[in-house]
Amino acid sequence: MRGWLIYNQAEAKRNAAFIEWFLEESAQLGIDLQLVYINQLYGALRNGCVDIQIKMGDPSPDFAIVRTIDPLLTAQLEQAGIACFNNAQIAALANDKIRTHLALAKLAIPMVDMHFQTGIPLDDPPLPYPFVWKTSTGRGGKDVHLVKDKAQYEALQIRYRNQHILMQELAGTPGKDVRVFVIGKEIIASVLRSSAQDFRANHSLGGNASLYTLNAQEEMLVQKIIDQYDFGFVGIDFLFDGNGRLLFNEMEDVVGSRTLSQVSDINIVRLYLQFIKNRLTSF
Ligand SMILES: Nc1ncnc2c1ncn2[C@@H]1O[C@H](COP(=O)(O)OP(=O)(O)O)[C@@H](O)[C@H]1O
Ligand SMILES: [Mg+2]
Repeated sequence: MRGWLIYNQAEAKRNAAFIEWFLEESAQLGIDLQLVYINQLYGALRNGCVDIQIKMGDPSPDFAIVRTIDPLLTAQLEQAGIACFNNAQIAALANDKIRTHLALAKLAIPMVDMHFQTGIPLDDPPLPYPFVWKTSTGRGGKDVHLVKDKAQYEALQIRYRNQHILMQELAGTPGKDVRVFVIGKEIIASVLRSSAQDFRANHSLGGNASLYTLNAQEEMLVQKIIDQYDFGFVGIDFLFDGNGRLLFNEMEDVVGSRTLSQVSDINIVRLYLQFIKNRLTSF
């Protein structure tokens, strides 16, 4: 069984330890996994067939673990017959917050009220201050802001001109959220992230992490989402309302494992590779 572990080169440097972990575990499981950079890959369409080539000219692998945010690359890989984790549908959905909220609204999953801006900006905001402003494709909390007045609103409209924007109510318990780590149909663990100094609980912005146990009701909510999708490895993130109930916030496609490793000794990489192996051998 051959696979590619796909990264962009800069991200690979930052994640050298995680990559090493993947290569060690795959060797133990008898999987031939090769680190591949996106700039080594070329997609082509010839005589109606999509094909992916790698610079060195190796034959296509059985599967790819795509650890870069590039839904169009995943689409090419998949159409070239390579099983992708996460798959192209999940990559396209999870990396676009507006698409994700539209899809999950169909499942009647609780979320904060929000407005989408995909075209002409509104002169005045469609909801009262303070509210949350975020881009549809942002990551790591960098493009998430708490808007407090008109001057800030106008500055954000200029700064994020021509981007797709979400404007949301501030959830009832700011500075706290929970990430549920999922492999396939299974909830692996949940991590509570909290920040005392920021309404954003992102780990990369200094949020603290602790293990969180979902209650039965919360687990049912997560399962309802899991039932609908063919996930590989994802994070499903929730905010808390004023009564401590979960509100869906986002899905993370290229989900990191730093917080999970901080609070548990779960071997998430081995679990993921075992899942992939089972998936590929069960057909
Ligand atoms: N509507 C909201 N109400 C309260 N807090 C929010 C809201 N939206 C986001 N946050 C906080 O900001 C953080 C970053 O927002 P998020 O939507 O996850 O964007 P990113 O993809 O950049 O992580 C969340 O983890 C959460 O702590
Ligand atoms: Mg987030």
